Amino acid sequence: MTRESMDTVTPIVIRNARLLERERPVNIRIEGGIITRISEEPLTAEGAEVYDADGGLASPPLVDPHIHLDAVLTEGFPQANMTGTLIEGIQRWSERKPYLTPDDVAGRAEEALRWHMVHGVLAIRTHVDVSDPSLTALKTLLTLRERMKPWLTLQIVAFPQDGIFCTPRGPELLEEAVRLGADAVGGIPHYEWTREDGLRDVELAFDLARRYQRAVDIHCDETDDDHSRFLETVANCTRLYHLQGRVTASHTTAMGSYNDAYAFKLLRLLARAQVHIVANPLDNIVLQGRFDTYPKRRGMTRVKELIEAGVTVAAGHDSIMDPWYPLGSGNQVFVASMLAHVGHLTGRAQLPWVWRSITEAGATVMELPKYGIREGAPASLVVFCEPTIVDVLRLMSRPRWVFSHGRLLAETVPAVSTVLWEDERLPVTFLRKDAP
Ligand code: FE2
Repeated sequence: MTRESMDTVTPIVIRNARLLERERPVNIRIEGGIITRISEEPLTAEGAEVYDADGGLASPPLVDPHIHLDAVLTEGFPQANMTGTLIEGIQRWSERKPYLTPDDVAGRAEEALRWHMVHGVLAIRTHVDVSDPSLTALKTLLTLRERMKPWLTLQIVAFPQDGIFCTPRGPELLEEAVRLGADAVGGIPHYEWTREDGLRDVELAFDLARRYQRAVDIHCDETDDDHSRFLETVANCTRLYHLQGRVTASHTTAMGSYNDAYAFKLLRLLARAQVHIVANPLDNIVLQGRFDTYPKRRGMTRVKELIEAGVTVAAGHDSIMDPWYPLGSGNQVFVASMLAHVGHLTGRAQLPWVWRSITEAGATVMELPKYGIREGAPASLVVFCEPTIVDVLRLMSRPRWVFSHGRLLAETVPAVSTVLWEDERLPVTFLRKDAP
């Protein structure tokens, strides 16, 4: 893919779009890759391509702050995960890894990125397994990160899938991945063989982050074991290493099993240290609770309580058709819908939090400096057919148009549905006419 110079790009006017923070629809003018005007009054469309949003919602691009692009689309080869469990998933991935080549990784990752693009996801943080001594996937995705820059922001986390201290040369491989250019240092403390090694896992990630000036994003306490308590160490290291705002703990499902007194203490620590949390409701609703009989736990971190405590909580897709999760399509609205259901977040006051988890909160996790729809900002935005976030979440529809840096990147023709009703063909839009 190539891009022409900004000087030759035709200006764009988007008419009649709804913004979250405004009552009345607006018109948006885009020139030279920048939003130059947002107005409720008509804007001149002379020399511009015109897109009529017809009252649809215009949102900043969706964000996926947690995916494993090296593993996407590998489900079923060389063997499928027949039980659907986390343990069999790890086994199947270890059998798949010898087949990784640069072409294999790049081909699957590019395909998944196109799926994301069509769904309006233009900022993606991928974890990459760096337990492989050749670092094939890491090197391939570092190259892809540069190629994708004109269209989307791709960040890479060096992720020690098999554990740092139970993998031969684990610490060296992690440092080599960071030295080669990973944006963030990962860890997996709950997967190390001992609690002591788990603590060393977290401390090494912070030490590397400080030495190489990187962010931290640790797979932390992704288990139902209520004794898995590395999140408090992450919070404390964030304070000690002065990395407030640059640290993310992903999954943190054990938090759903902690007693309330301990969780209360932990919430305060996390908020004070400004640690961000990424929940991954698709994988964790199916992978956690597997050792339970009934009642079965939901395998979800305490999203509502974290947000109420002032912690940034974003939601990630985690997997697309890989050994851990055979479904998914890069649709972050599906992820948000799952978060709303699994996290008890369907209250009128809470659905905006759910939307935030795949937009602004993800941008905070990824430290995106120019995120949002405003005059002077980069013209990257997504236009849906539906007028509200509730309608988008309910219908899980794809955006009609996705614009990246002032150019149309992806388009979906809206479906037209009708029903034959008493000899009449009636249109069905799934939208309420009397919305309060
Ligand atoms: Fe993950």
